[in-house]
Amino acid sequence: MTRFTATLLGLIAAIGAGSAMAQQQPVIIKFSHVAAADTPKGRAAVYFSRVVDQRTKGRVKVEVYDDSKLYSDATEMAALQRADVQMLAPSLAKIAALGLPEFGVFDLPYVFDNYAEVHRVTNSEIGADLLNRLQSKGIVGLAYWDNAFKQMSANKPLRRPEDAKGLKLRIQDSAVLQAQMHALDAVPVVMNFSDVAAALKAGTVDGTENPASNFSTQHMQDVQKYLMLTNHGYLGYAVIVNKKFWDALPADVRSSLSSALKDATTFANDIASESNNDALEALRASGKTEVIRLTAAEKAAWKKALVKVHRTQESKIGKDLVRAVYKETAFEPDKL
Ligand code: LMR
Repeated sequence: MTRFTATLLGLIAAIGAGSAMAQQQPVIIKFSHVAAADTPKGRAAVYFSRVVDQRTKGRVKVEVYDDSKLYSDATEMAALQRADVQMLAPSLAKIAALGLPEFGVFDLPYVFDNYAEVHRVTNSEIGADLLNRLQSKGIVGLAYWDNAFKQMSANKPLRRPEDAKGLKLRIQDSAVLQAQMHALDAVPVVMNFSDVAAALKAGTVDGTENPASNFSTQHMQDVQKYLMLTNHGYLGYAVIVNKKFWDALPADVRSSLSSALKDATTFANDIASESNNDALEALRASGKTEVIRLTAAEKAAWKKALVKVHRTQESKIGKDLVRAVYKETAFEPDKL
């Protein structure tokens, strides 16, 4: 072998080893969200990460950053669009704020009575069509995950809607939720989720709305005396990825991720109700926050006050979409 051939062979071997090493580098998916680890979303994100690891044999690593550790509500969407983070699971309310007001349909008070009604929408053409609309924002919508129905909280009992009059109530950045608080003659205050407990403590806001799992894991029982079981609105998520990142993945990796997400979605939706019930029981046991069950007459008064929001918001959301959702959930606003 000439010295030239030996050098050439050495070079080829080095390039080969280099590219083998490059092939071994796992694809990293940073998955950021704002809820605590011990919530349906927090647990489902970790579950997804584990299944991806198994199914791709380590080729893809999903790094989960919970509790606003990486980004807050205000910064996460832009970070996803820049691909500084590859995956998020924001609430559907926050997706409307991205310039897709049709997602506000999920925030309409009392439009869903239970999870089954939510799933009739999310598993239908309506749900698929809404996720498709994210593509115009450079985002691919992959799945819907449940959390639960929201309960109002404050430092005074809110048995009837008029009890909320004049209170400063924290909301997510959503036009529908803003209208909802206005319908109560309350003052809506848009605020990052990570800032809510401190703002309640400081008195910057008087109350808020949350599923029990979010309330308890953000320790709001230390700063809110009453939690009313209003169940007035649904809070769920869309699992979304940066489109350029997603489209550039090898087809087999994409398909492993999709199948892992399918399992994680089943897991998320299976644990959502129980986690929230457990959180409610823990709250009751803590004795710090009084959990108020409303009478039938009180519930009816809340519905009557809040259903007005449907009329004022339907043209912004899209009348046809609102009607299509009513059809799936058998919702009849005029009968309330
Ligand atoms: C909120 O901001 O209240 C929720 O969207 C937080 C979450 O992600 O559950």
